[in-house]
Amino acid sequence: MPDYPRRVSPHRPTRVVVLISGGGSNLAALLTASDDPAYGVEIVGVGADRHSAAGLALAGDRGIPTFVERVGDHAERVDFDRALTAQVAALEPDLVVSAGFLKLVGADFLAAFEGRYLNTHNSLLPAFPGMQAPADALAHGVKIAGATLFVVDEGVDAGPILAQTAVPVLDDDDLDTLTERIKVAERAQLVEVVGRLAREGWRVEGRRVLIG
Ligand code: GRF
Repeated sequence: MPDYPRRVSPHRPTRVVVLISGGGSNLAALLTASDDPAYGVEIVGVGADRHSAAGLALAGDRGIPTFVERVGDHAERVDFDRALTAQVAALEPDLVVSAGFLKLVGADFLAAFEGRYLNTHNSLLPAFPGMQAPADALAHGVKIAGATLFVVDEGVDAGPILAQTAVPVLDDDDLDTLTERIKVAERAQLVEVVGRLAREGWRVEGRRVLIG
């Protein structure tokens, strides 16, 4: 991860591309926040790995460009990664946010967006990486769960951490109630931190990400 500052002009909003796979509640929260010019963000495109990603319509309804890039449409995984990289790069983002995007990106994508590709994950990393984090947290019996916003590197849910938010695990929680409690906190964190990055800039120094 490079040690250099990311500063976007104070004279224009920070250009953000959001990648999704599902319902897009995190995307919806970012879109609502970006309606206020003072937030400092323009969502310039939304991409998905499947046509069924319901969040695509949220962007389409606002006239925001969308694209779908499917792994299955490419002979090799590296071809998917190159196509995804090209789709995102064409939107000229300052920042790329994975919000429930269920694909790992490869070397080409990471090289193009190193230090400015974020992912929001529904656990307190490094506990419970992977796709079943709330279920894993419940199964483990932890008393505190939460969400982590981090800068993606070549590892899985392993990059430098930008922010974390905690929620309690209650005795009568099931997977649905815990997942929803995490998502509420996760959305608030994502909106707050992306706005701060946009307005204040950020830099990555080894494992530490510093805002402002
Ligand atoms: C988020 O909780 C994210 O951490 C997980 O998938 C969820 C996406 O939700 N990987 P949504 O599509 O933004 O509603």
